[in-house]
Amino acid sequence: MTTILGLSGSLRRASLNTALLRAGAQLAPPGVTLRIGDIRGVPVYDGDLEAESGIPAAVTALTDALAAADGLLLVTPEYNNGVPGVLKNTLDWMSRGPGLERFRGKPVAVIGASPGAFGTAHAQSHWLPVLRSLAMRPWFEGRLMVSRAGGLFDAQGRLTDEATRARLADFIAGFAASIGGRP
Ligand code: FNR
Repeated sequence: MTTILGLSGSLRRASLNTALLRAGAQLAPPGVTLRIGDIRGVPVYDGDLEAESGIPAAVTALTDALAAADGLLLVTPEYNNGVPGVLKNTLDWMSRGPGLERFRGKPVAVIGASPGAFGTAHAQSHWLPVLRSLAMRPWFEGRLMVSRAGGLFDAQGRLTDEATRARLADFIAGFAASIGGRP
């Protein structure tokens, strides 16, 4: 069994990226579980808060989920050609204290969806220095940039575009195969 922790970098109820992550969880091949992590309860990083109260419970839940997972999938929106602050903030919190070791050597893949033409190409590249800093192992053999994403989901946020479903399924299967699983 291979377990992948998936994090969407959007808090929006109608988020295209969260919808893409949900679709990915459904399209994961047999033997692969894509577990969706929740970043909603993570506060804005504040060193004073950390000094006074330690690591927030929402962050510990995510680092525990990362420790239990064989890989990490970031589903990233693109804001101003860069990474979304809420997801960067989450990883910043997760990297504090004992959480940092959870990242080391962990396979990671990045995908994303945008209503625009480039499908988060810039944001995906902008994650690389962060993943390097965390000593993760990026998977580069697949690439999934979902452009013009507004037209690919139905009103309930279900991914209805067959070509994108196939690309997503291939991506997840490829990533999972590259990391293997735990017996
Ligand atoms: C955007 N958006 C955007 N899209 C893109 O392809 N390239 C970009 O540089 C930006 N920049 C940007 C900045 C800010 C502040 C916002 C709020 C939005 C549009 C973005 O892709 C769109 O809002 C997506 O729907 C956001 O992802 P979710 O929330 O649907 O997952």
